[in-house]
Amino acid sequence: MRQQIIAGNWKMHTNLAEATILVEGLKKALAEAKTEREVVVCPPFTGLSTVCDLADETTIRVGAQNMHYEVSGAFTGEVAPTMLTDLGCHYVILGHSERRQYFGDTDELINKKIKAAFANDIVPILCVGESLEQREANETQAFIDSQLEQGLVDLTAEQVGQMVIAYEPIWAIGTGKTATAEQAGEVCTAIRKKVASLFGADAAEAVRIQYGGSVKGSNAKEILSQADIDGALVGGASLKVEDFMAIITA
Ligand code: PGA
Repeated sequence: MRQQIIAGNWKMHTNLAEATILVEGLKKALAEAKTEREVVVCPPFTGLSTVCDLADETTIRVGAQNMHYEVSGAFTGEVAPTMLTDLGCHYVILGHSERRQYFGDTDELINKKIKAAFANDIVPILCVGESLEQREANETQAFIDSQLEQGLVDLTAEQVGQMVIAYEPIWAIGTGKTATAEQAGEVCTAIRKKVASLFGADAAEAVRIQYGGSVKGSNAKEILSQADIDGALVGGASLKVEDFMAIITA
């Protein structure tokens, strides 16, 4: 059985005081709510150290939103995988559409980062997803297949089984437009099939596939009940304890 995983992507939000209030609130709410789901928060780099300390010895796990693939070197402005593990980071989001769109992250670069994550004991959350034009042109599956083929090059079946793949249709991110539960479920099923064809049935059975894109308390239950959806990657609604908890407990 795959444990569902709800991850909050805080993007470029929260100063230290806000991050502290958010994690403390989450800790308190989780202590009362009890959930079988795994809960992850991904603050900006500046909040990671504080959030890792606050989440230490709790069930909350911490992820980064990006990283470099080298462990050190002359890469001004970058953060190494070893720097993340040093803080206690467990996950890293890689290939988010905002990274692909605004910062030029390519499938090839993302593949290097995924390998570096595994080499340093960090679990990658690989984001894939189509634009509105691609969906309307019926190119959704072909596009996601190619993101998976290129992003997962040279990984082992065992590694792929351990990772998380987030299906995030670009047109649903931060727009308030959610894919219907059926649309989301259909693509996640196709992603699992693609993983099976590339890495075999065991990897496909083990890999956890999230849906992301305007997930909120009101639509989470239906989305999370789809057979091939094992969790959610949540942006806007992860910035308030109440909103995030509504998804975690949906
Ligand atoms: P959203 O963002 O929930 O605000 O749509 C999701 C994401 O970008 O991961």
